[in-house]
Amino acid sequence: MEVIIQPIPEAATAIALRAVADLLRKKPNAVLGLATGSTPLLLYNALTAMDLDWSKVTTFNLDEYVGIPAADSCSYHSFMWQNLFSKVNIRRKNVHIPDGMTNDIPGHCEQYERRIRDAGGIDLQILGIGREGHIGFNEPGSSLASRTRIKTLTERTRKENARFFKAPATVPLHVITMGIRTIMEARVCMLLAFGAKKSRAIAAALEGPITSMSPASILQMHPRAKACLDTLAASRLKHLEYYRSVYDHKPKWQKAEIF
Ligand code: PGA
Repeated sequence: MEVIIQPIPEAATAIALRAVADLLRKKPNAVLGLATGSTPLLLYNALTAMDLDWSKVTTFNLDEYVGIPAADSCSYHSFMWQNLFSKVNIRRKNVHIPDGMTNDIPGHCEQYERRIRDAGGIDLQILGIGREGHIGFNEPGSSLASRTRIKTLTERTRKENARFFKAPATVPLHVITMGIRTIMEARVCMLLAFGAKKSRAIAAALEGPITSMSPASILQMHPRAKACLDTLAASRLKHLEYYRSVYDHKPKWQKAEIF
């Protein structure tokens, strides 16, 4: 995995921004995998300020809460439309987010997987990381071979995400999330993490053993995974100086090109 460490979140985001912009310019009908939460907000803000054509772009979001209607302000549908989709020229029919209100969760999850395949697979998957190492809502213990399915959130994740809800008790217990294998099939995975509170999860994922107890650690098996970190999120990495040196000494052509 390539580890890119920048002084501040804005600088780490700039790496992901360049990757998305390059992809959309080179492949107008690109397929993007998108994340929610605080981490990708800087990226989405920066993307909306750019002159990019989203008219042929297809997106698949990682996850959604079960039992929260799309129109609810706490849904990830609302999050995505508010922070990105309403500000770019994407076509509604090209946006895919799991439906938390479906009455056939297994069937819906199978269909979600099929739609990703039919779209030609995900070119670039943007990922955040939970404090216990989840990617999407694949909590510790998730099968590393999992596909889109229902998951039960840990109490820690529910507490973390309570800030987006009116009361902690209203945070749903269940979610629909892309599986770990689904994520691993993306051609490029880009993990973003900022702040000291992510440093333990990042150290476990990047330098610890590959284990379902740290679901993000599976990215060590991805041929084109990049972690874009700020200094605080990277602060517990043992090989910090090596990662910095690798990035500083990359050939210019390699540094500039992700797609
Ligand atoms: P955050 O969440 O971006 O709000 O920190 C990341 C995650 O839980 O995956």
